[in-house]
Order: sequence, then C-alpha cells, then structure tokens
Amino acid sequence: MVIHPSFPNSPYMQLIKTIKDMQAFGRRLKAERKSLGFVPTMGALHEGHLSLARRSIDENDFTVVSIFVNPAQFGPNEDFKKYPRDTEGDLQKLSPFKVDAVFLPDAAEMYTAGFSTSINIGNIGTILCGASRPGHFNGVATVVAKLFNAVTPDRAYFGQKDFQQTVVINKLARELNFATDIIVCPTVREPDGLAMSSRNTYLNSEERKAALILYKALKLGEELIISNGMVNAVLIKEELRMLIHTEPLAVIDYVEIVAADLGEVEKIKLPVAICLAVKLGKTRLIDNIIVDRFQRKS
Ligand code: PAJ
Repeated sequence: MVIHPSFPNSPYMQLIKTIKDMQAFGRRLKAERKSLGFVPTMGALHEGHLSLARRSIDENDFTVVSIFVNPAQFGPNEDFKKYPRDTEGDLQKLSPFKVDAVFLPDAAEMYTAGFSTSINIGNIGTILCGASRPGHFNGVATVVAKLFNAVTPDRAYFGQKDFQQTVVINKLARELNFATDIIVCPTVREPDGLAMSSRNTYLNSEERKAALILYKALKLGEELIISNGMVNAVLIKEELRMLIHTEPLAVIDYVEIVAADLGEVEKIKLPVAICLAVKLGKTRLIDNIIVDRFQRKS
C-alpha cells in the first residue's frame, strides 16, 4: 500500500494494487466498525463518476474508487485497446475529495493465468445492449463480483446512465447474496443535455452536435407519455425513431421502452424506462430516462 507521491495535499488517498492489500484494508475497517462505500469505474473520470464518489463520501466513513478497464466486458471488435486511459489525470481529479483509497489492479492481478470462472447473468444480459454486445453483461457481472470480493464494501454506487447495468448488478447482488447495498445515482449531463460518458471524447465536433438527438428523443418520449398521455409503446417508439432519423449522422441501434425489470412494455404503465443506443460515426452512445408518475404535469 503506498501514498501516491504526487498527492502530498491528499493525506487520505492510498493507492492499492493487489487484491490481498485491498481485502486487508476492508478487514481493518470492519474491525473498527467503519462503513465502506465503493465506486467501481473504468477510469477516464468525469463529473458523472465524481458524483458517485461524492455520494459515497457523504454516506460512508470510508470510500474506495476502483479504476480497471475490464477486458472481459469488451467484445473482440470493440474499443478495449483505444478505451481512454489516464490514471494520473484520474488521480488528480479524485485528489480534492476524501477518497480514502484507489484500487488499481492490473489485468494479471484480476485475471490470473488459467482464469476460467464467469457469471452468467441470464436473459437480461442478452437484450437491449446485450443484443449487440454479446457477453458484455456477463463480463460486467464477473468483474463486479470480483471487485466486491476484493473491496468488501457495505454500499456500492452505480450510475443510472447505464440503466441495464444497474438492473444486472442488482440481480447479481440479490441472487448471489452479496452483503453490499446497491445505490443507483442520477445521470449527470452536460449543460446541453448530453449524458457524460468517457466515450464522448471519441466524438468529433459534428458528431458531438448530433449527439444531442439522444436527449431530445428521451425528452420527447417523456412528453408524449406525461403531457400527451400516450400509452401505446409501439407508437411512442416510432415517434422517437422518426425524430432520431432527422439527424443524418445518427444510426439507431435500439429504441426501447421497458419496465423496471427490463421487461417489454406494450401499454405504458408507469414507471417505465426509455432506453436508447445510437451510433454516431464509430461511437455508440447510450442514454435513458425513467418516466414516473411524480413527473406528471397538472
Ligand atoms: P464506467 O463506464 O467507468 O462507469 C463507472 C460508473 O459511473 C458506472 O456506475 C456508470 O453508470 C457511472 N456513470 C458513467 N457516466 C455517468 C453519468 N453521466 N452520470 C452518472 N453516472 C455515470 O460502468 C462501468 O465503468 C463498468 O461497467 C464497471 C461497473 C466499472 C465494471 O467494469
């Protein structure tokens, strides 16, 4: 365990690289009856990630953030190699906060030679994003289970931005009896509405402008349901597709309306989630909005 030499102003933040040291950290906190909050990330941190860290710091005695670009959740033709990596920059971004430790395992530490165990999350991992990213959610579930066993947190914080991921993690924690509460935090957006994402850095200026169509479509869906009282999900999805098609750079992967358990919705019964995946050039962006009763305008 080392205090990072670049962060003399951050007396708290320890860098932990091995699972053994991470588990020892957790054991010490348990002996002292201190609560531990955990924010798993793949780095290239932005305000969305930092909002999770802030919430964890508010709600726990200690907070651990992990940074690990998990090869098991990338498909063979996906962006694992070019996924943005900036550990120094990430540590700088975390240093003003009372993050107590950053867990930075390398791939060999997480996936030892001959590693062959994996979690199969079942059907919810094969729909929506899972349909175009086979194996992705099993890779997420496996690494999150490993991270939970390394960090042993009381609470773990995930962003609603990845709505399907939150459903997968909740199911994983429930069905495998993890003693970790899963806390889902709101999506943090840019001032113009684009959901923050490490992958936004891939967008050129034209694509960045075009990317606004995702949020516009979500807001249209919300309006059709809340203000116009539309209940036919097929017709709502058709309206959203038509709007997205007005943006020449946008190619739809999916537009779906689902229930809290990701079940398909034909007739709107609140709450529902409107979920989108849209490609702009080579970059695939996802976003979602939860439409619930309390948003109904009088
Ligand atoms: P990553 O994409 O780095 O995201 C880490 C966490 O930050 C996730 O819970 C994600 O939902 C949340 N997040 C990302 N953008 C956000 C935003 N704009 N607002 C709020 N929260 C946001 O998700 C992963 O990494 C990985 O799959 C991981 C869970 C770490 C497993 O490898």
